[in-house]
Amino acid sequence: MSTAPSSARAEVNARKRAAAEAAVQMVENDMVVGLGSGSTAAFAVEALARRHRQGLRFVGIPTSQNTATQAMAAGIPLTSFGEHRQIDLTIDGADEVERGTLNLIKGLGGALLREKIVAAASHRLAIIVDGSKMVDRLGVRTPLPVEVVAFGLEVTGESLEVLGASARARIVSDRPFVTDNGNRIFDCDFGRINDPARLEERIRRVVGVVENGLFIGRADPVFVADAAGVHRLDSARAHRGTPPILVVMGVSGSGKSTIAEELSGRLGWPFEEGDSLHPAANVAKMHAGIPLTDADRLPWLERVAAWIDGQRAKREPGIITCSALKRAYRQTVIGDRPQVRLVYLRGGRDLMTEHLSGRHGHFFPPELLRSQIDTLEEPEPSEEPMTVDVDASAAQIADTIIRLLGRSVTVSEGAAAQHSETARTL
Ligand code: 5RP
Repeated sequence: MSTAPSSARAEVNARKRAAAEAAVQMVENDMVVGLGSGSTAAFAVEALARRHRQGLRFVGIPTSQNTATQAMAAGIPLTSFGEHRQIDLTIDGADEVERGTLNLIKGLGGALLREKIVAAASHRLAIIVDGSKMVDRLGVRTPLPVEVVAFGLEVTGESLEVLGASARARIVSDRPFVTDNGNRIFDCDFGRINDPARLEERIRRVVGVVENGLFIGRADPVFVADAAGVHRLDSARAHRGTPPILVVMGVSGSGKSTIAEELSGRLGWPFEEGDSLHPAANVAKMHAGIPLTDADRLPWLERVAAWIDGQRAKREPGIITCSALKRAYRQTVIGDRPQVRLVYLRGGRDLMTEHLSGRHGHFFPPELLRSQIDTLEEPEPSEEPMTVDVDASAAQIADTIIRLLGRSVTVSEGAAAQHSETARTL
């Protein structure tokens, strides 16, 4: 008999354990810790039990009966939401992690509902995976688990199929799988999921659905273990300690709205179309082919800034389009708001003209492009723009921006623990 499969399994387990050990280093005295479910999370529970024996004080809230059993047997003190409404840190596994966004699919282990409740109550959700879980788009490797109530299961399954899935009620050992909450699970194959935020909304609206395994904008950080070591991926959401707000700038025809919408779908961040904030007088002027003056633009820029301030007050990320052609305009919109990042969509006149000639029903006539290009003051390095050339598809441009937003840090290489900042894409 070949030993290859068991040695390959041992290698994967070693990676899972390495990711778990790295995440467990985040736990500090007196924390409330969410305990995830699955084979990778089990290594974290084991490591936490060891740290507990060594004197670390913390209490755990488990995400499944299995984890509760393991934690109790290992001597980890458990608590509940009755005593603690807030969790400091949850450590959990995942079935897929999307590169760049760190959006997840979870629930192949069947614990997605409790995992999501615990994640939603957590200040931070650290995800631990081996490298095989990293994907370019969710849905390519595993189906999306959806927890549903048992009553009306057949109807709920059909409704999920109407959304485009092939939905299979989960069977384990020839028996219907029943969750810790007494519910059932549909494993839904949607193929490649291009807009997880929209899909999550649509699944939520299906009567009979309790929860789905899409975790959008929740993971931070992700520890990935591969042959080279453990890498820590920080969420683009955690920017300078606060959720970031992107101002997508560029002349008309640079694709601001298309790219902002793509980003919004991938990141799950609210999107505002800056053009919709123009006063009616500005729209009429542009419609008539008359360029706007600085004075015309000021009330509009102030409205853009007000939207940004609204997001900041709610402590939510966001994406807004705004041509922001002059440095002075960007001062009004961005000023000294540290969480605002400028995305500059750069392109030549010919490409912009081509984009505009394909656009219908917009108030901006292509003839005004020349005046916009003449007015444009490209962002200077001191404005720390993310500059992206627009001669690629919206999906590729969004990928580039997401990568520029995210960072990866190698926390350990092989056996030797090292700390080094890298810009690798995992
Ligand atoms: C359980 C989960 C698990 O975290 C996920 O299935 C990963 O499990 P494993 O670490 O065993 O691959 O979401 O509901």
